[in-house]
Amino acid sequence: HIFHGTAFTSKSAKEVQQLVDYLFCINEDGVIEKIVAPTDPDYEKLLDAYGETENFHRLADGQYLLPGFVDLHVHAPQWAQSGTALDLPLYDWLNTYTFPVESKFSDLDYAKDVYEDLVSTFLANGTTTALYFATVHKEASLLLAKICSEKGQRGLVGKVVMDDPEQNPEYYRDEDTQTALADTEEFILAVKDLDKSTKQGVYPVVTPRFIPSCTEEALKGLGELATKYDTHIQSHCSESDWEHNYVRDRFKKNDAFALNDFGLLREKSVMAHCNFLEDEDADLFAKTGTAIGHCPLSNAYFANGVIPIAHFHKKGIDIGLGTDISAGSIPSIFDNARQAVVSSRMLEDGVNTALPAEERGVPNARITINEAFYFATAGGGESLSLPIGRIEENYTWDVQIIDTKLPTAKLPIFNANEDLYDVFQKIMYLTRPENIREVWVQGERVHSRAK
Ligand code: GUN
Ligand code: FE
Repeated sequence: HIFHGTAFTSKSAKEVQQLVDYLFCINEDGVIEKIVAPTDPDYEKLLDAYGETENFHRLADGQYLLPGFVDLHVHAPQWAQSGTALDLPLYDWLNTYTFPVESKFSDLDYAKDVYEDLVSTFLANGTTTALYFATVHKEASLLLAKICSEKGQRGLVGKVVMDDPEQNPEYYRDEDTQTALADTEEFILAVKDLDKSTKQGVYPVVTPRFIPSCTEEALKGLGELATKYDTHIQSHCSESDWEHNYVRDRFKKNDAFALNDFGLLREKSVMAHCNFLEDEDADLFAKTGTAIGHCPLSNAYFANGVIPIAHFHKKGIDIGLGTDISAGSIPSIFDNARQAVVSSRMLEDGVNTALPAEERGVPNARITINEAFYFATAGGGESLSLPIGRIEENYTWDVQIIDTKLPTAKLPIFNANEDLYDVFQKIMYLTRPENIREVWVQGERVHSRAK
């Protein structure tokens, strides 16, 4: 395939690169082999040779390419309850809403309905890679990986481990620690097998739900499995007051150090939330290569605190964005990029209006929309150690085509020569699913919508 058009991609966290009227040549593996500027001597030759062929895609006026989004934190089964119960404290929400919903995924028919709908919805929202928590059920977790494989999404999927009988309800937990570990190992092998026949890749993820739900034996065993099979790892870390304090009471240390003791902080680890990381915890993240899955909408509902994301980024930690379906209720990384900016502004500018302006809030806490875009794309790719999230040679062709001129969902662009950086900002702040005309993963079209 060759694409002809204008693309936006991160040059650095703060800078967006504009590739205006470029040619993007995609090879059979779905990787960007060559990006050709209009000034390149090959440009006209390529246009002449391929411009009228079937696999040549000329973007229409008002259409732009963005990298596909990476969602670093999703609870796939919770899609069934998205948009409910957002007023409860985390602990009550888990016990009264979430565990009952997740327990239903022993039923594979139910799992299929929910998972197919979620993966399609994500693709329609421009999310080309997602890091998923499934449930404790091995079969249903494998079904989610199969659905990603079939629908063309790059899915990283974890069978959730919650084995502690003291902490988890009898109707929803692993049978015992040995079963939890054996199921995880079988799941890893099954997904690795499925990956062999999946062009865009599916990956098994070692997934202790969070420290409160696991025995020490399980945490240790999971760290060993991740090392043995070199898998990704995901969990929740220092999310809320309740969870953070629980871990301190139990281990006399913060989540980060406790997780590290069990071998769970590694280059391919992604920890969701991390609102209560202290500087030593953050340094440990940077040292081990552990990434933060930043879930700004979810944090607003459940975290009891705003994460100082700019501070953690300065410390050199990899950061990407997560929807945290359904603690964050909207299945869109666009919405979370916007909320990441809003939350950072509230942290910086403060909310206690009784104080003088200079005493409110946290200095230098804000992030720009460029940084939010970076987290949504390149930062997500770096967090997962995969060549995704940038429109750059040797990266995969994972893109979304945004139409700013769709009659039913026009963005407010009235000037024929609108400044391109303004176009980019409007796309980031105003795009709705209607504007996302096509989505491609690893060189395959996985979503398209008629006008
Ligand atoms: N901590 C443990 N489980 C969960 C979950 O499902 N969602 C969130 N937001 N936090 C959790
Ligand atoms: Fe979560």
